[in-house]
Amino acid sequence: MYYLVEKATEYANLAVAADRKGDYEKAIKYYRAAIDLFSKYLKLYPDNSMADFYRGLIRKYRVRVRTLEQTLNRVSIGGDRGRSEEIELYVFNRGGNGPRFKDLVDLDDVKRALRRAVIYPIRSPHLYPLGWPRGILLFGPPGCGKTLISIALANEVGAIMINISPATIMSKWLGEAEKNVARIFKKAREMASKNRPVILFIDEVDALFQEYSDEIGGEKRVRNQFLMEMDGLKAKEDYKLPLFVIGATNKPWKLDIGFIRRFDKRIYVPPPDREVRKKLFEHYISRLSKTYDVSGVDIERLADMTENYSSDDIFKIVREVQSNLAEEYNEKNGDGGRRVISTEDFIEVIKMRKPSIDPQMIENYRVWNEKYGAQ
Ligand SMILES: Nc1ncnc2c1ncn2[C@@H]1O[C@H](COP(=O)(O)OP(=O)(O)OP(=O)(O)O)[C@@H](O)[C@H]1O
Ligand SMILES: [Mg+2]
Repeated sequence: MYYLVEKATEYANLAVAADRKGDYEKAIKYYRAAIDLFSKYLKLYPDNSMADFYRGLIRKYRVRVRTLEQTLNRVSIGGDRGRSEEIELYVFNRGGNGPRFKDLVDLDDVKRALRRAVIYPIRSPHLYPLGWPRGILLFGPPGCGKTLISIALANEVGAIMINISPATIMSKWLGEAEKNVARIFKKAREMASKNRPVILFIDEVDALFQEYSDEIGGEKRVRNQFLMEMDGLKAKEDYKLPLFVIGATNKPWKLDIGFIRRFDKRIYVPPPDREVRKKLFEHYISRLSKTYDVSGVDIERLADMTENYSSDDIFKIVREVQSNLAEEYNEKNGDGGRRVISTEDFIEVIKMRKPSIDPQMIENYRVWNEKYGAQ
């Protein structure tokens, strides 16, 4: 029965990895699977020498699942055959505490495009007798703010954000995935018709339909349903609903033309240039200034050194410096007063870390943007 523990550990690792990535929906699923298997094992071997350790883990995972569930309010969508068929959607709605546009450094063109495409239509629908675009695609290199700006957008307009992922539309019932797509859109229309803005968010939209490729015809059915639903939003009775579909991808060239066409707005989320990198360093370093003396850090130099680093890389560099200092503090048992952070502290970390943006990719985005970009 040891395989129970092995399997449980495997799920726990997947859960922690998903949790770190911010994919909370998946994290919850895997934590639950791990809890389930550890509990089964404990039932069989309650006196095992590791039992207390496993009990501790179960408690820890339960607390984490609860916290995550509170972050992502749950919305259930009923199937036609009652409860057993319900799928659960996790909805981001942090009651106004989440990130807003002002919390994102720069990305001014993207913010402007999203104001035009989403915020103004929601605020003043009477100014749009022709309706407004429904589908918005954000594309660009990894770690440069596509997901974060989508969440911030939802917070700007107080929208409910429904996260559509393979996990949400995958179903135990073969051939039901396309029905789940239909249900999600139905629920979204329902919520939007009560005047609550709704954003259907599809992260990594290029990967969404690949999940079905091993089911004969499945991928195509889900995809077609999706395209149909998007077309449906233009129908007469729905064209004024505050309902948007936002897709994010770092591989826009993987999308086929039918798909691309449904996203009327296709907005490039670029990597940070030197000026923006400087602002990102200022932004994150300023948060350290309460705890440390950061006045001597040469931010110009850091910006020069970080060509091809993404916004996420820069955040992680600053966070790593913070970890190094905390380690130092703990090892010295906290003597020495307020530590001065030097430019060297950063350079050390930057040298250990490779940039995540490949300049060739940037050229590919430029070409794709020229062909398909539409603000
Ligand atoms: N404009 C920004 N201002 C401040 N921080 C940012 C900005 N853009 C990105 N970041 C930092 O980078 C992290 C990653 O950003 P995000 O997840 O939005 O990237 P992404 O474009 O969705 O990447 P991927 O394509 O890998 O999904 C954020 O959590 C944040 O810490
Ligand atoms: Mg993302």
